[in-house]
Amino acid sequence: MLSDIVALSFVWLFLFVTSLRSQSCVIDNRSLSTAWEQKLREELMSCDSRYQPPSINETVVKISFTLKSFYFENDEEIFTISSWVFLNWDDLRLTWNPDHYDGINEVILSSMKIWTPKLSHYSSSGEDEFDYIMSGCRITAKGRVTCIPRVVHQTVCSTKLTNWPYDTQNCTFEFGSKPGFDRAKFVLGSPRGIKMFGAEYGPGWTIVDFSKSESNDSKSVKFSFNFIVQREGVGLAALVIVPSLILSLITVMSMTLNVEDKIRLGMLCFGLLGQFIFLQEINSDLPKHSADTPTVLLYLRSSIVLTLLSIGITFVLTHLYTRCKPPPNFILTFNEKVFESYARYIIWPKWNTTGENKIGDDVNKILTAWIDFASIINFVSMSIIALTYIVMYTIYIPKKPDF
Ligand SMILES: *[C@@H]1O[C@H](CO)[C@@H](O)[C@H](O)[C@H]1NC(C)=O
Repeated sequence: MLSDIVALSFVWLFLFVTSLRSQSCVIDNRSLSTAWEQKLREELMSCDSRYQPPSINETVVKISFTLKSFYFENDEEIFTISSWVFLNWDDLRLTWNPDHYDGINEVILSSMKIWTPKLSHYSSSGEDEFDYIMSGCRITAKGRVTCIPRVVHQTVCSTKLTNWPYDTQNCTFEFGSKPGFDRAKFVLGSPRGIKMFGAEYGPGWTIVDFSKSESNDSKSVKFSFNFIVQREGVGLAALVIVPSLILSLITVMSMTLNVEDKIRLGMLCFGLLGQFIFLQEINSDLPKHSADTPTVLLYLRSSIVLTLLSIGITFVLTHLYTRCKPPPNFILTFNEKVFESYARYIIWPKWNTTGENKIGDDVNKILTAWIDFASIINFVSMSIIALTYIVMYTIYIPKKPDF
């Protein structure tokens, strides 16, 4: 039953279409110029050798690119550009005298119907050929052919994550013609080979530099485009660098607290935990396809070591702080030397005994000696740690590069 209906509808459709066709045969409602153009097209396409190269010599093909957009795919592995490619060349078989065709001096033909130069794109995954499908080419009466296909190319870039999140990628696209294949010689039209017109600002990335290079060996012509693409790292940097610095500051700040104070150890442990969690967090955010380690990670790793060291120092100082045995002589002379020199002005914080006046003078003296000694050790280790942080900051924290 259903198939009957389908068959019947096909019959109706067929009758309808044929009636339309016969109508258009009876009344030719094409305009005069359309008729001329059709005649011209038929004549241009009548040539048997129209898929052969235009001449036995080289055909010079001027080529230039205009970038439309770009983006990264698959975990930043694959760089894709989409561009208009302007190609033009002369094909003397496609000429006519406009006077013989009602003054028509240009016509649009599908690129499938004429010879087009074959440009290869050499990518790491092999060689893929240009795709002109669905593109119209403009042909003038003098035989100048202009095609502007829109094409998409992909490549794999070399990444250096050292400066992450301000890292850059170096992406190269290589094109060329196969030697002796269709005798096309590609010549880059514009001085830089590719135009941008604002397309250099992509999602999350910016093309900060691009260049072309051409190599011209015996027969084949090769040219390549080099894009230096930089991550828009400002937002990421705020999320990565600011917390790292705050965590380092916690470590240094806690060194100024009294060792008797439980807050000091608490802060250090909190900082240590924070650094571990933060390291995990960054690790999951990182793009993973590079061999080199981002220096931010090195900064955090060293910061963890410094925090562990501070915790160790805190334990040692707590031990010294609460000693009751009389200190050996060298500690007394050391304290004296330090506190009689100018160093006494810079030792900070300098801890004092917690005013328990009840204990005898002797005991007080012993305590003061140990506490002074602990203050000096604390000051020295704090300075060294702070200095190390400053050095680490200048070495490891990536700065926004300027191009
Ligand atoms: C990018 O890579 C190409 C070739 O791989 C190289 O010639 C060029 O110097 C590189 N550019 C930068 C800035 O690293």
